[in-house]
Amino acid sequence: MDDLHWVFGYGSLIWKQDFPVIEIRRAYIQGWARRFWQGSHDHRGLPTDPGRVLTLIESPGEICWGRALLVRSDVFEHLDYREKNGYERCNLPIHFEDGEANGVTYIAPGNNAAFLGAASNENIVAQIRRSKGPSGTNTDYVLELAQALRNLNIEDTHVFEIEGRLKDD
Ligand code: SIN
Repeated sequence: MDDLHWVFGYGSLIWKQDFPVIEIRRAYIQGWARRFWQGSHDHRGLPTDPGRVLTLIESPGEICWGRALLVRSDVFEHLDYREKNGYERCNLPIHFEDGEANGVTYIAPGNNAAFLGAASNENIVAQIRRSKGPSGTNTDYVLELAQALRNLNIEDTHVFEIEGRLKDD
């Protein structure tokens, strides 16, 4: 088990695994909430026109559901590169329906250069609508995630509110 690690995914890692994964489990972390508060210069936007992607914000009492991915340590080279625009690997306990394990997740903290922070849902949606980057449109990032959450029976008011507004008109 020495070489194996659990990675908690709450955003694109839930639905886009472009690396080898040994096992995937529905899981949650405590005290964090996902928010579209991180700028994306390299995936869903450009340096001149950043998109808005997810990071985790400390939220005492809240639970964030996602998926835990069991990977070999050599996968971190790929993951660190994929999440290079402001994200840091953080150690934390990951909870499963039937137990828990220590693992890591990628968090873009408030002091990183690409952090955008809070905005009204209207402004978040406007920015997402106009943004695209090498990985595709920012809208697809949201729609793919919302569908994946629904498939996993995970409720997330913030994500579903933004998704609903993107689908309007
Ligand atoms: C994650 O998916 O866990 C990190 C944020 C992202 O890449 O969307």
